[in-house]
Amino acid sequence: MDRKQELIDKLTGIRSSRKSYYRKLNSTIEELKNKNKQLEVINQLTQLHVNNSWEEVSSYIASRVSRVLDFDRFVLTLIDRSEFCFYISEQTDANWHCHLIKRQYQTDAALSITEFKKLLQKDISSHYGETVCLENQTGKIYGFLTLLNDKKTEYSAENLEFFKRFGEHTRVFIENNILFKDVSEKVNIEAQLIQSAKLASLGEMAAGIAHELNSPLTAILGNSQLLMRRITDEQSNKMLTDIYQCGFRSKKIIQNLLVFSRQEEYQFADVNPNDAVEDALGLIGYQLSVSEISIKKKLDRTVPHVRGSRQQIEQVIINLLLNAKDAVQERKEPLIIIGTTLKHIEKRPYVSIYVWDNGIGIEQENISKIFNPFFTTKAKKKGTGLGLSISLGIAESHGGKLMADSKVNEYCQFSLLLPVQNGEGGEENEEGARS
Ligand SMILES: Nc1ncnc2c1ncn2[C@@H]1O[C@H](COP(=O)(O)OP(=O)(O)OP(=O)(O)O)[C@@H](O)[C@H]1O
Ligand SMILES: [Mg+2]
Repeated sequence: MDRKQELIDKLTGIRSSRKSYYRKLNSTIEELKNKNKQLEVINQLTQLHVNNSWEEVSSYIASRVSRVLDFDRFVLTLIDRSEFCFYISEQTDANWHCHLIKRQYQTDAALSITEFKKLLQKDISSHYGETVCLENQTGKIYGFLTLLNDKKTEYSAENLEFFKRFGEHTRVFIENNILFKDVSEKVNIEAQLIQSAKLASLGEMAAGIAHELNSPLTAILGNSQLLMRRITDEQSNKMLTDIYQCGFRSKKIIQNLLVFSRQEEYQFADVNPNDAVEDALGLIGYQLSVSEISIKKKLDRTVPHVRGSRQQIEQVIINLLLNAKDAVQERKEPLIIIGTTLKHIEKRPYVSIYVWDNGIGIEQENISKIFNPFFTTKAKKKGTGLGLSISLGIAESHGGKLMADSKVNEYCQFSLLLPVQNGEGGEENEEGARS
C-alpha cells in the first residue's frame, strides 16, 4: 500500500492525499474545458460573413462571448471620422438584438480608452464596463468592443485575457469587413456610372426617334380629326376614330419616351404614384402584351402623392416589370399584377408600388444577392445584373425602400416603398397583390 502511494506521488508529483489529487485533476479538467470553450468562441468568428450588417455582427459577437463571460449589454463601436456608431446588443428571450446609436463627437485623432468610456457614459449612463480597442496596422483606433454591466462586475485575470485575445481576432474580421464594404461601395458607384451612361445614350436615341415621329403623328391626328368631322358615314367614321385613337396612343408613348430621356429632369416634384405606373405601362405595356402576358392593375386611387423624380420612379417600375416579364416567360398562364397601396412600416406611412408575378421566383439563397451590382441569373447577353441595384439606389435616394418577397416556382413580389410627406397618409390599405 505504502509503495502504491509512493508510486502515485512519484508519478503525479503531488505530495498530497489521493482526494486532493482528484480535486486538483478535476479543476484542471474544468480549466481545460473553459479554455476549449474560449477557443471555440474565437473559432466561431469565422462564421461571420463580410456581407453581414454591423448590427448582425454586434449581436453575433454578443451571443458568442456570452457563452464564456457574463454581461448585460455588448457594444461594438465604430468610428468614421467624427461619427461614432454604437451598435448596442441586448438579450431578450434568449436572442440578442442590436440597435444603433449615432453620435457626432469632435475628438482628437488619438483617442484613449478612458476618453472613449467618458463618451459612452454620455449615451449609456451609470454602467460599468470592460473595453478593448480595435486599432489598425498603423496604430489608428477605429473602434472598440465593450462589455457593459448594470452592477459593478470584476472579471478574473484569465477572463480579461480572453476578452483581449478575442478583441485581437475580431479586429482582423472587422478590418476585412470595412474594406469589403468600401470596395462594394466603389463597385456600386462604378456600376451606376455605367448604367447611367447606358441610359444616357439610350435616352438620346429615344429622344431622336421621338422627335422624328412627332411630326408625322401630328399630321395623322390632325387630319383624322378633320376627316371625322367631314365624313358622316358610320362605318368610315368608326375606322377614322380607330386611326385617331391609335395615333393618340402613339403620341402618348412618344411623350413618355421624351420625358424619360430628359436626364436633367431628375428634380424632385410632386408625383402621383398611379400616374407613374400608367406611364411606365404606356412605355412597355405593348412589349408585355405581345408576349401574351396578362397584366392586371390594382391601383388604389386614394394613395397620396409623393415627393420624387417621376422619371426615376418610372425607371424602377420598368425594371421591375421587365424582370417580371422574364420570370413568367415559361409559365402556361403568365400573370403580372401591378398595384399601388398605402402601407405603414415602423409607424411611418409609405406608398407601395408593387409588381407581383407568378414566375419562377427567387431561390432563398439568392434573395440577399439580387440587389448586388452584376448579380444575374440570366444568360450573358440578356441581363447585366444592374436593374435592381440601380433601382435600390433610386429607392434610397427617395428615402424609401425596395423589398423582395418570393417563393420559388410560385410567385415573386417587389415593392417600391416611397415615404409619404408629413400630413398625408391615412388608413393603411390591403397590402400585396394576393393578400
Ligand atoms: N421577378 C423576378 N422573378 C425571379 N427572379 C427575379 C425577379 N426579379 C429579379 N430576379 C432575379 O434577380 C436578378 C437580378 O435582377 P436585375 O434586374 O438586377 O438584373 P437582370 O434582370 O439579371 O439584368 P438587367 O436588369 O441589368 O438587364 C435576376 O437575374 C433574377 O435572377
Ligand atoms: Mg432586370
